[in-house]
Amino acid sequence: MTKLTIVAFDGTANELEVANGSTVMENAVRNSIPGIEAECGGACACATCHVYVDEKWTEIVGPPEAMEEDMLDFAYDVRPTSRLSCQIKMSDALDGLVVHVPERQG
Ligand code: FES
Repeated sequence: MTKLTIVAFDGTANELEVANGSTVMENAVRNSIPGIEAECGGACACATCHVYVDEKWTEIVGPPEAMEEDMLDFAYDVRPTSRLSCQIKMSDALDGLVVHVPERQG
């Protein structure tokens, strides 16, 4: 199992044990983390699963691909650390990943 921390907008850190191959969005929804709506169910077609990758992790997680970057245009308060959480797949390399939920979705 891999560790994933999703920090809600109110600062609550939700520390989860997750399976490799699952996405950050799936784990957020499964654990009812507030602020991740994921309306399209992970198809990279809604931008309501927007998160900020913690700065310690941005390089390891890497930048969004072109399709995700296009969708991020629809997200609220996009920053250089913004990603769509349905496009981040957990793996050993991401063990300990921390992401932050924005104030609201787009
Ligand atoms: S769940 Fe719709 S873009 Fe991520």
